[in-house]
Amino acid sequence: RHPGWPARLGPIRVAAGDVAVRPIRLRDAGDWSRTRLRDQEHLEPWEPTGPGPWRDRNSYWSWPAQWTALRSLARRGQCLPYTITLDGEFAGQITVGNVIRASLRSAWVGYWVSSSVVKGGVATAAVALVVDHAFSSAGLHRIEATVRPENTPSIKVLTKAGFRQEGLFKRYLDVAGDWRDHYCYAMTVEESGPGLVARLVAAGRAEYL
Ligand code: ACO
Repeated sequence: RHPGWPARLGPIRVAAGDVAVRPIRLRDAGDWSRTRLRDQEHLEPWEPTGPGPWRDRNSYWSWPAQWTALRSLARRGQCLPYTITLDGEFAGQITVGNVIRASLRSAWVGYWVSSSVVKGGVATAAVALVVDHAFSSAGLHRIEATVRPENTPSIKVLTKAGFRQEGLFKRYLDVAGDWRDHYCYAMTVEESGPGLVARLVAAGRAEYL
């Protein structure tokens, strides 16, 4: 079994409510699709360019294939795919992907939350929960996050969580129909100190339950 998978993390309390993460489920289909179809404008500028129209890629019937692919990567130890919940309800996704072990022990993290819950600390809490877990039970040493320079809310999330900017990757990812520059943010376990959640609590941004 892949270290650190499966696991449920949290909850911790932030301004928006109680945030937890748990493995993605097949029965997330309805909430996942409903949220993403409604939130096309909120999500599409920041996500990898996909094949076909948004409404097809995010229909109820496209979830089972994505769920299967992510779960099989998770079983092979290459990914930790989570659903974010707020007060127990579906609120978005956070994924630790491209897990490489051996002497790299590194991965990336990516996330999105429903437009109905933004600006309440939900994404920052989810990043803190998942990165603490990646550095402890999952045994990783470095987590990287790449973000478009225009994505102010996501840059704020990474900064609040304690990530450090490492550089600018030119024409790095095919996002929203073109090759987009991305800042690279990263953190190694040595920089996580007492843990990201503990630091959010100390900063008054979160509370333990
Ligand atoms: N201008 C300036 N600041 C803003 C703006 C804005 N337009 N919108 C939000 N913010 C601030 C908020 O006030 C908050 O900062 P504060 O706590 O100092 O007040 C911060 O940005 C957001 O922090 P959270 O509340 O923890 O984050 P939230 O739950 O709102 O989620 C997220 C942020 C995930 C970026 C959300 O907006 C989203 O899903 N966006 C679309 C998808 C996306 O961009 N995903 C990230 C891709 S990059 C990656 O995955 C590494």
